[in-house]
Amino acid sequence: MAVENTRIAILGGRGMLGTDLVQTCRQQGLEPIVYDLPEFDITNADHLKQAVAAADIVVNCAAYTNVDGAESQAELAYRVNAEAVGRLGAFAHEAGKWVLHISTDFVFDGCSDKPYVETDHPNPINTYGKTKLAGEQLLAQSGCKHCILRVEWTYGLAGDNFITKLIQRGKSQNTLKVVDDQVGSPTATTEAAGVICKLLRKKPEGIYHFASAGYISRYGMAEFIFDKLSMDVNLLPCKTNDFSSPAIRPLNSRFNCSKIKILLDEPIKPWQAPLELFLRKL
Ligand SMILES: NC(=O)c1ccc[n+]([C@@H]2O[C@H](COP(=O)([O-])OP(=O)(O)OC[C@H]3O[C@@H](n4cnc5c(N)ncnc54)[C@H](OP(=O)(O)O)[C@@H]3O)[C@@H](O)[C@H]2O)c1
Repeated sequence: MAVENTRIAILGGRGMLGTDLVQTCRQQGLEPIVYDLPEFDITNADHLKQAVAAADIVVNCAAYTNVDGAESQAELAYRVNAEAVGRLGAFAHEAGKWVLHISTDFVFDGCSDKPYVETDHPNPINTYGKTKLAGEQLLAQSGCKHCILRVEWTYGLAGDNFITKLIQRGKSQNTLKVVDDQVGSPTATTEAAGVICKLLRKKPEGIYHFASAGYISRYGMAEFIFDKLSMDVNLLPCKTNDFSSPAIRPLNSRFNCSKIKILLDEPIKPWQAPLELFLRKL
């Protein structure tokens, strides 16, 4: 489907994923319109209605993403990640517009011993995950045509993430403890943005999982990063339970991406090459 000359509202367009999505859209001749704080607040119904009216398609990358912060700011997290997403669905339904909403592996409890498929039962174990799941459900109940793209372990140049924090810690400490029991797929926001642009052309409906190919633990990822950066850091493997943080984290974040592969015209790249490219750009 031709989407050139289609106006695409990108909510959260200055966030980590939103920034790369806006750039990828422009590179592909699409017309993104950026909406983000402070001038656009997704919890403000008037702002949201105007954004839906101004576009042909809405991509929602806006979210309250502070996983630990959500434990003490549950109400705000719910308003942004759930209530506003339901309202977005209602406005889109009224206006007959398709919505692509970004969600997360944190809707799962991480207890499965297999990579998660879209039909697996969600069971979030922290407040952030609960609000994101509620957002998915409210969007589905709104009756608008929509696609939910769940991503995981994302990183990009436009935001703080596991990698940038790890490198900062590695510069100030010779020895670092990193958990080896959380497993997932590091996924560059540039890769996710490329996939989103493909979905914009196909407008599928339903839930899709996307992550770079292959799986690694946080510890394995840290080894890869310090090796590529030639940083001499003494890494010690440890367990999630050794750290106390306000929010608990799922151990298994692995996705099965077979469903989305059918929509993509090229194979999903393994996680290593995009991560190396990212490290060279830092
Ligand atoms: N990062 C990950 O590892 C990860 C993993 C799985 C899924 N996701 C999902 O990916 C999507 C994009 O997140 P991201 O990683 O790009 O995080 P991000 O950098 O925090 O982006 C979220 C954007 O939403 C904005 N925002 C927050 N509250 C808002 C409000 N009330 N109104 C309008 N905009 C608001 C933020 O603005 P401020 O920065 O000013 O608050 C930010 O620009 C989210 O749906 C997230 O749940 C992320």
